[in-house]
Amino acid sequence: MRIVLLGAPGSGKGTQAKKLVEKYGIPQISTGDLLREAVAARTPLGMRAKEAMEAGQLVTDEIVLGIIRERLSAPDAGKGFILDGFPRNIPQAEALDQMLTGLGMPVQAAILIDVDFDVLMQRLTGRRTCASCGAVYNIFTHPPQLDERCDKCGGELRHRADDREETIANRLRGYTAQTAPLTEYFRRQEKLFTVDGVSDVEDVFDAIDSIVAAVEQEPAPVVEAKPKPEAKPEPKPAGRAPSAGMEPGE
Ligand code: AP5
Repeated sequence: MRIVLLGAPGSGKGTQAKKLVEKYGIPQISTGDLLREAVAARTPLGMRAKEAMEAGQLVTDEIVLGIIRERLSAPDAGKGFILDGFPRNIPQAEALDQMLTGLGMPVQAAILIDVDFDVLMQRLTGRRTCASCGAVYNIFTHPPQLDERCDKCGGELRHRADDREETIANRLRGYTAQTAPLTEYFRRQEKLFTVDGVSDVEDVFDAIDSIVAAVEQEPAPVVEAKPKPEAKPEPKPAGRAPSAGMEPGE
């Protein structure tokens, strides 16, 4: 499985990625998590990313692509991955396509988790994340049993530094300007699927899981090798067969 989870801040990408990891045992690759780890560890890269993150702006493509290149070349990514928060703009998507085509493992589907902006503010201001295991809660919709402690491991629950109202507004503006155009990018590749992200977490997961099951059944794509100068170019692969019960772009 090689999928991209698309969606605005707070749409539930991280929540759903964790459920996919639990079910399928393939890694979640979250550029947000990787960057937050670098900031917490005070690495040179983290120090460069910190200011943009705290302002709710995107970190430079150079930094993010470096992180992704390294993470995708780790052995566990060879069996598949769930990209969460990457790509975030067209240049990142183009760079990703190039990287994965080179590795012979192109993205199979980009799943947009669609949530109205008026729901997102409450989700983000109420979010709490376990500092030890990364479990995600929401004090309004999915509170922990004990205040500020993780139900799973007892770890301390934290409020993310960029989950303040004014920073959230910046993140949503950035999403509209830079990330939302990716839906068209993946639609043109016939890889875009949309799920209603306002429903209950389990219902959203079921919708995503059926998409995953459908794309997993499709035959592996023919990876086009660069034609040798004297060879005729390969014919372009035919369009994807429609999946049962859903069409890319829905
Ligand atoms: P990142 O960490 O990627 O944040 P984001 O995209 O803004 O997304 P979030 O993590 O805020 O939300 P989510 O969709 O994962 O929602 P969640 O599942 O937690 O990026 C942070 C920053 O890093 C960026 O601003 C940027 O600076 C930098 N960055 C990262 N990637 C980058 C890149 N590629 N290029 C450049 N810069 C980059 O859910 C949210 C809340 O809602 C939770 O409380 C959850 O419990 C609740 N919830 C989830 N689903 C439901 C549901 N169905 N019903 C009710 N509540 C729900």
